Amino acid sequence: MFLPILFVLCFRLSSSDALDFCVADLKAPQGPIGYACKTSELVTVNDFVFSGLREGNTSNLMKAVVTSAFSAQFPGVNGLGVSVARLDLAVGGVVPMHTHPGGSEIIVVVRGTIMAGFVSSANKVYYKALRSGDVMVFPQGLLHFQINAGKTPASAYLSFGSPSPGLQVLDFALFANDLPSDIVKTTTFLDDVQVKKLKGLLGGTG
Ligand SMILES: *[C@@H]1O[C@H](CO)[C@@H](O)[C@H](O)[C@H]1NC(C)=O
Repeated sequence: MFLPILFVLCFRLSSSDALDFCVADLKAPQGPIGYACKTSELVTVNDFVFSGLREGNTSNLMKAVVTSAFSAQFPGVNGLGVSVARLDLAVGGVVPMHTHPGGSEIIVVVRGTIMAGFVSSANKVYYKALRSGDVMVFPQGLLHFQINAGKTPASAYLSFGSPSPGLQVLDFALFANDLPSDIVKTTTFLDDVQVKKLKGLLGGTG
């Protein structure tokens, strides 16, 4: 009598879990649609919690650090279309022009003043000094930047419409690789001295 009912209940419980989420199996390769799902018996609450969005270390060239909770760091967001990160900018800090090919971004400033902006496909620039409590959205794929525009450290939380939005920094794409200087010069209209200087600064060769 009871067995069929129990069976139905168990089946429903386990099958509904599988449709609720797809915690990333970080041992499996990541493709464009994300990671494969971890077996649901192995999923724990810690897959849905990320405790790393503390203040980051800004001792670097950009005087800035982005601490990411994307699916690679935060397996619970895999497949859910969202993720989060934290930005810390020391005085004079900058996140240079960059894009996230996979998703739009919302910045929520919680400390200091951040000059933020993006460039549309028509090369129109939308930028503004944001202070604590201000929010700005950067549409998917568009180049954008953040600069500490104040005299104190600044911080913000970033949310993304993708569990794995990706990141490409324009200056690194242009100057932090081994594309020969002659080609960089030709494709950027910069002179040789400028190209070599930027390659040196950002760690490129060639
Ligand atoms: C921050 O990073 C710098 C450079 O890597 C390092 O020397 C310094 O100890 C770090 N500071 C902290 C508080 O971890």
